[in-house]
Amino acid sequence: MSNTTFQEHKAWDLPIRIFHWVNFTMVVCLIFMGLIMLFKKELGITGIDAKVGLKEVHIIIGYVFVLNLVWRIIWGFIGNRYARWNNIFPGKGFLSNIRHYLKSVKSGDAEQYIGHNPMGRLAISFIYLLLLTMAITGLVRAGTDIYYPPFGSMVADYITEPGTDPDSILPYVADGTDKDKVATLKAFKGPFGKVHLYGSYILMFMIVLHIFFVVRVEIKEGGSLITAMFTGKKILAKKPVDLD
Ligand code: HEM
Repeated sequence: MSNTTFQEHKAWDLPIRIFHWVNFTMVVCLIFMGLIMLFKKELGITGIDAKVGLKEVHIIIGYVFVLNLVWRIIWGFIGNRYARWNNIFPGKGFLSNIRHYLKSVKSGDAEQYIGHNPMGRLAISFIYLLLLTMAITGLVRAGTDIYYPPFGSMVADYITEPGTDPDSILPYVADGTDKDKVATLKAFKGPFGKVHLYGSYILMFMIVLHIFFVVRVEIKEGGSLITAMFTGKKILAKKPVDLD
C-alpha cells in the first residue's frame, strides 16, 4: 500500500473558472462560425445578405468573447495569486524554474504546482496573446467590413461621400461612398484579416496541444488538473513548488 498523503489546494477562483468555460464555449462557437464563413461557397451559401448575416452572428459572439477577455485581463490584477499575470507571464527566475521542472519530469518525479507549471505558463501566455490578437483584429474587421462597433461609425464617416448620411451606407454596396477612400480602407483592413485568419489556425492548433498536454500531465503527474477547472481545487501528492 502506498504512504502518499494527498493535500487539497485552492487553485482557480470562481471568476477564473467562469472565464475559462465562457471563453472555451465562445472560442468553439467563433471557430464554428468562422469555418462556415470560410467555406460558405462550398456550403451553397450565397448573396450579400447571407454573407453579412454570418458576420453579424460571428461578431455578436465575438463581443461576448471580448468582454469576457477584458474581464479576465482586469482579474489578472485583482484575483488570487494563481490568477495574476505575474504568475502567468514569464518573469524573473523563470528560466531556472523551467530547467528545474524539465529535469524533474525527465527523472520521472515531476514537480507539482498549484498554479501552472512553467511549461504551462509558456503555453498559456502564448494563448492569451493570441486571444488578444484575435479580439483586436476581429473588432477592426467588424468595423471595416460591416461598420459594427466600436470602430464602425468612424469607418462609415470616413468613407461616406460628402452630403450623404453615413448611417445610410450598406456593407458591400458602393452607393454613397467615396471610391478612393474605399480603396484606402481595403488596403488598411487586409492585413488585419490575414492576421485574424492565420491567428485562428494557430489557435486551433494550440487548443489541440492544450488539451493533449492537460490530459498527459493529468495521467503522468496527477494533480486532478481537469477536475480543478470545475472545482477550483487541485489534489497534490507532493509539496507544491508555488506554495507560500
Ligand atoms: C477566438 C476568437 C476568434 C476566432 C477563432 C475567429 C475566427 C474567424 C475565422 C476562422 C474567420 C474567417 C476568416 C476569413 O473569412 O478570412 C473569421 C472572420 C471574421 N471574424 Fe473572427 N474569430 C474570432 C474572434 C472574432 C471577434 C472577437 C470578432 C469581432 C467582434 C471577429 C470578427 C470577425 C469578422 C468581422 C470576420 C470577417 C472577416 C473577413 O471577412 O475577412 N472575430 N473569424
